[in-house]
Amino acid sequence: MTKVLRSVVTGVGGYLPDEVVTNDDLAKVVDTTDEWIRERTGIRQRHRAAPDQAVSDLAVEAAKRALERAGRTAADVDLIIVGTTTADLTFPAVATIVQRKLGCPIGIAFDIQAVCSGFVYALSTADGFVARGRSKCALVIGAETMTRLMDWTDRGTCVLFGDGAGAVVLEPGEGQGEISDRGLLGFALRADGTKQDLLYVDGGVSTNGQIGHLRMQGNQVFRHAVVNISEAVIAAAKDAGVQVADVDWFIPHQANSRILDGVARRLGIDESKVISTVAEHANTSAASIPLAMAKGVEDGRIKPGQLLLLEAMGGGLTWGACVLRL
Ligand code: UT7
Repeated sequence: MTKVLRSVVTGVGGYLPDEVVTNDDLAKVVDTTDEWIRERTGIRQRHRAAPDQAVSDLAVEAAKRALERAGRTAADVDLIIVGTTTADLTFPAVATIVQRKLGCPIGIAFDIQAVCSGFVYALSTADGFVARGRSKCALVIGAETMTRLMDWTDRGTCVLFGDGAGAVVLEPGEGQGEISDRGLLGFALRADGTKQDLLYVDGGVSTNGQIGHLRMQGNQVFRHAVVNISEAVIAAAKDAGVQVADVDWFIPHQANSRILDGVARRLGIDESKVISTVAEHANTSAASIPLAMAKGVEDGRIKPGQLLLLEAMGGGLTWGACVLRL
């Protein structure tokens, strides 16, 4: 039987900053209501990082929890990939700051900028190292302080986002080349740069030198998400050699409960198989999938050996999906 190396998730961890901001809190800042936000998005609250917390601080907490669950320490880590769009500094990468703060030895560390698709892109990239034997212990992190990118006068966007971080530990594991193997089994990544104007930040180092604010044509992004994510999910399932119906848990990017429901319906996935954290976390961009994974693992719903389907879509536009067996 063919032996193949797989990238196996051996630990998952999430971290949410302490401050909780409710919809009613936001109704004091912009012209909105708890009812509108809950009905249109499913969001009830979001977490906000403290002023002295940088995105690397959030990432470090999530990484520590993931390492603990994997039974590993910082000394084992030889690769760190952080999916983020809200870096501490323009450079160096958040990944190298995390490496320093955790006390990891010299290794590989870099960030991936694919906005809300950052975790799916980072996981697929890490597979290229781990499943080729080039990393023995990788940290793949999604971490964001999206509240720092908000225009607090724009009710169409500022109510949607929150801060947080999630991390997984990936280690090589021997498989048989079968769908019963533990590890990352398949993925599909997509980008369409012609859709930039639908979701972007109006600032940057080489344009106006500003941090900028997030701008979004929400209903256009919504339509694109529901239609195009399904194609990527089917492609990832095909890449993995599984049927969407075989999936135990569907863990989508948590942007809007109506998108989660719409995609699940299109794919014929029962709502009982959907891990949803959007009500409590709101949209934490690249952090939302690993945070949702961490929640499902911690509350005992997601168990070792189960088949997970992850998907996301974000600015770029970028989107994609991964299939893995825990
Ligand atoms: O993670 C990256 C991907 N991002 C997403 O996936 C987000 C996708 N988009 C969405 O989730 C939804 O499009 C939104 C939640 C952003 C908006 O929901 P919608 O049902 O598409 O509403 P809309 O943008 O078409 O706006 C409907 C109305 C407008 O008022 P008029 O023009 O009909 O009078 C908006 O001004 O709702 C108004 N509105 C609000 N009202 C109260 C927009 N935001 C708010 C608000 N509170 N916060």
